[in-house]
Amino acid sequence: MKAVGIVGSPRKNGNTEILTKHTLKAIEEEGLDTELISLAGLDIRPCDDCRVCLDEERCPIDDDLFPLYNKIKEAEAIILASPVYFGSATALLKAFMERTGRIGQRGRVFAGKVGGPLIVARRAGQNFTFAQLMYWFHVLGFFMPGSTYWNIAFGRQPGEVKEDEEGLRTAWNFGKNIAFLVKSLKT
Ligand SMILES: Cc1cc2nc3c(=O)[nH]c(=O)nc-3n(C[C@H](O)[C@H](O)[C@H](O)COP(=O)(O)O)c2cc1C
Repeated sequence: MKAVGIVGSPRKNGNTEILTKHTLKAIEEEGLDTELISLAGLDIRPCDDCRVCLDEERCPIDDDLFPLYNKIKEAEAIILASPVYFGSATALLKAFMERTGRIGQRGRVFAGKVGGPLIVARRAGQNFTFAQLMYWFHVLGFFMPGSTYWNIAFGRQPGEVKEDEEGLRTAWNFGKNIAFLVKSLKT
């Protein structure tokens, strides 16, 4: 059983990565394998609506997306994590969501998996971005556990999120609930 955390910040070792690692650690403690995948520096272009994937499980855009699609397809749980950029998810994560979502939609490959969002921002836009990401999980048929608050945290400079005690605790509890749900669905 595996949980994959996709970090949609273009900045490596930033707050989103720290928060995602924290959640994955809570999941690991429950005996699941985990992997963090940073999209920073990867070439992931947006969907161009060519519609090839409506007939075949492939994408003709030759970039870094398809191996990642195969990775998340094999996982039982998927976390999408984003910093807030102008009140929204990053363009990088949005491109990832458009393409993986569209490729997987035909075969309902994500239906029955477990997942949910994690969001970090300096000051505002977390709730909107949280909702924005939930559309992806919902339409693709994921089961999404709750936590003790919405999965949002505060931080600006890299590392600042470590000072947001409630944000960390919420992300941790979310991880625990992810693991619980994955294990419950397997038995
Ligand atoms: C282009 C850009 C836009 C941003 N827009 C917002 C915003 O709308 N609201 C906010 O609170 N913070 C905003 N921020 C701050 C980031 O969300 C914040 O620094 C976050 O911790 C970055 O996460 P990271 O360290 O994982 O890259 C923005 C940062 C950048 C670079």
